Amino acid sequence: MSALTITYALLFYTAALVLVIGTGAKLASYLRTPAPLKIPTTPAPTTAGGVGLRMAREVVFFESLFRSSKWTWIFGWTFHAALLLVLLRHVRYFQQPVWGVIALVQPFGTYAGFALIAGLAGLWARRVFVDRVRYISTPSDHLMLALLIAIGASGLAMRYVARTDIVALKAFTLGLMRFDWQPLPADPVLLVHLTLVATLMFVFPISKLLHAPGLFFSPTRNQADNAREQRHVAAWTTALEK
Ligand code: HEM
Repeated sequence: MSALTITYALLFYTAALVLVIGTGAKLASYLRTPAPLKIPTTPAPTTAGGVGLRMAREVVFFESLFRSSKWTWIFGWTFHAALLLVLLRHVRYFQQPVWGVIALVQPFGTYAGFALIAGLAGLWARRVFVDRVRYISTPSDHLMLALLIAIGASGLAMRYVARTDIVALKAFTLGLMRFDWQPLPADPVLLVHLTLVATLMFVFPISKLLHAPGLFFSPTRNQADNAREQRHVAAWTTALEK
């Protein structure tokens, strides 16, 4: 077993633990955070079913972003839809046999790699060229975009320029999951791609990327506009009354 394989195996076990435990801990803290006020952004649905539909439109179409900025919506939605296809395409590395739907998505996933980079480039241009967005942008905003673009670019480089041994890579990823380590191909572009992905996994629980699960905890989106029908009582206010 080469030092390279051992290093990357340990790297991915650690990254997976940090990702799962870190994100889990963040979600637990979101769950414990009280929402003391009734503050759904109106016009808002008045029933739980309506809230479900509103959330679904938010998750699938980015509805509120569409209303607020068409350019940000075009680039943001393109990037996220492309990311979904790219990730679905990657599922083949983690299962054997490969599901029909994953086999079906393969060609779309390849082209989605270009759409992913185009979307990210648009989002980055917005941070650089729109004055009021540049003013509130922090280094981490730029770094996350750079990291995602670098992951996409190294992935496309592997697809079109410096191919790696996909069969050996798949043996490595399956081996990781089965605790039966297999050699990792030592191709530089693959190692760059994997190192960047591990970096993404490490920073995810302390980054703005938490907006993905965080959306579901947003009171302006997940509350029903039923303050007249039902008194809103935050858990901690009853604790104070006692
Ligand atoms: C451990 C996780 C990952 C592994 C093992 C992996 C591996 C690979 C490999 C081997 C390719 C080349 C595909 C080919 O030649 O057909 C590739 C492509 C690509 N990867 Fe990854 N990758 C991982 C995670 C990610 C993540 C998290 C992203 C996005 C944020 C990403 C974005 C891309 C893109 C955009 C491409 C080019 C399009 C494609 O061929 O699918 N990868 N990846």
